[in-house]
Amino acid sequence: FRVASGSLLGPDQPVILNIVDIPEMENRLKGVKMELDDCAFPLLVKTNTTTSLSEGFKDIDIAFLVGSKPRGPGMERGDLLKQNGKIFVDQGKALSDNAKRNVKVMVVGNPANTNCLIAMKNAKSLKPENFNAMTRLDHNRALSQLAQKTGTSTNDIENMAIWGNHSSTMYADLHNTTINGKKALDLVGKEWYEKEFIPLVAQRGAEIIKARGASSAASAANAAIDHVRDWILGSKKWVSMAVPTDGKLYGIPKDLIFSFPCTTSNGNYQVVTGLDINSFSQERIKKTTDELLSERKEVEHLL
Ligand code: LMR
Repeated sequence: FRVASGSLLGPDQPVILNIVDIPEMENRLKGVKMELDDCAFPLLVKTNTTTSLSEGFKDIDIAFLVGSKPRGPGMERGDLLKQNGKIFVDQGKALSDNAKRNVKVMVVGNPANTNCLIAMKNAKSLKPENFNAMTRLDHNRALSQLAQKTGTSTNDIENMAIWGNHSSTMYADLHNTTINGKKALDLVGKEWYEKEFIPLVAQRGAEIIKARGASSAASAANAAIDHVRDWILGSKKWVSMAVPTDGKLYGIPKDLIFSFPCTTSNGNYQVVTGLDINSFSQERIKKTTDELLSERKEVEHLL
């Protein structure tokens, strides 16, 4: 609904929505289309609903891959790998065969980084940089917690960074973060940063599941919009994006989908390079890298 209302591409860009679901959901899909029609969005040119991946992905510019089983209480996102991994094989192939060559693919379904890797590896005729996974939700969570702690606005915060996997090993890094030009770490102190902030951001998804009895929905959708909007329209600030690795950045091995601080312009993202990584950060980056390597090993047969 927010894509149709203009939140993704701005108030002057008409949109065509292709909404794809599994055959069992065909009726629900009709209901969603009826509601979209009933909104009379001026920007919405057409809504196509389908249960066919090749139809749904035909000539598309942007794909939000949100279809996957969500985790329940007590589960880690990685526990979903076996059930969800296969979905991304078919989606990667269908994107490769049908989407525009410069399609931007945003993987939201968990475990997002490794699902994204599966889709990317199966999309033989697309470039790796067509594929991203979402850590913007963690980035936004970090901004919001830091603003609340310091009595500031998220607007005042610069240079937030989430590294690694969208899982409990993710590393929310404040070493470069400033609030109204002052170092965030000096304002909040090491104790709060290490003991409260890092675990709070990493466990926020699980806390939401506990509170709601279901995993995050509105905030995840919002983060997906933020990510793709900035990817396409550009962002002056650092944003966290899980992107394909080439083995040349911060010692992260090739062929992972890894979250880095990025900047965006002209429809491209650039990883922020040249940052000093102290031993505290190195240790955490290694932990989340090792987890991604072990997830990759688990799905080797799908790549
Ligand atoms: C989130 O972070 O809220 C989502 O990835 C859902 C989940 O399983 O935590």
